[in-house]
Amino acid sequence: TNAGDSDGGNDHQLRVSKIRSGTVIDHVRGGQALNVLAILGIDGSEGEELSVGMNVPSDRLARKDIVKVEGRELSQDEVDVLSLIAPDATINIVRDYEVIEKHRVDRPEIVEDVLSCPNAGCITTGDEPVTSQFEVLDDGVRCAYCGTIVREEIASLIDT
Ligand code: CTP
Ligand code: ZN
Repeated sequence: TNAGDSDGGNDHQLRVSKIRSGTVIDHVRGGQALNVLAILGIDGSEGEELSVGMNVPSDRLARKDIVKVEGRELSQDEVDVLSLIAPDATINIVRDYEVIEKHRVDRPEIVEDVLSCPNAGCITTGDEPVTSQFEVLDDGVRCAYCGTIVREEIASLIDT
């Protein structure tokens, strides 16, 4: 085989260099790469080595984003939350330049303590020590406490 389009490049070149060890988050919906980084709490300010390709050509999606993080393997929790904004993503764990693990993200039924409710009157946003909990819907998330549904801009609810 060759480099294919998996990188948004072509037979001649990869769009984004290969990494030595870390994680490649591939097949992210076009335009969502920066939200993926926000979810992972990565902004490059700590010197993390990372590459981002946005709106590159792909076979599987019309346009895709790709995120490569050197020196970091994602936890299952992190992958679960990624699924909310990147349901078609492939997570590739790379060691010594080889992909040693590849998995599709899996949508969890509930995400806890990750998103904050946009409803100012919600018990989870007050002073009470209540952990946020959202049910994952086909097209968004619903606060388990006040029922508020968010369909777009889920990334803006991420606790940071
Ligand atoms: N990759 C990388 N650095 C490596 C190995 C792989 O950046 N050392 C990237 C590839 O460029 C690709 C992704 O990780 O974007 C998955 O690599 P691979 O499984 O080799 O590619 P495909 O088989 O084309 O992947 P898929 O079938 O998931 O599209
Ligand atoms: Zn709420």
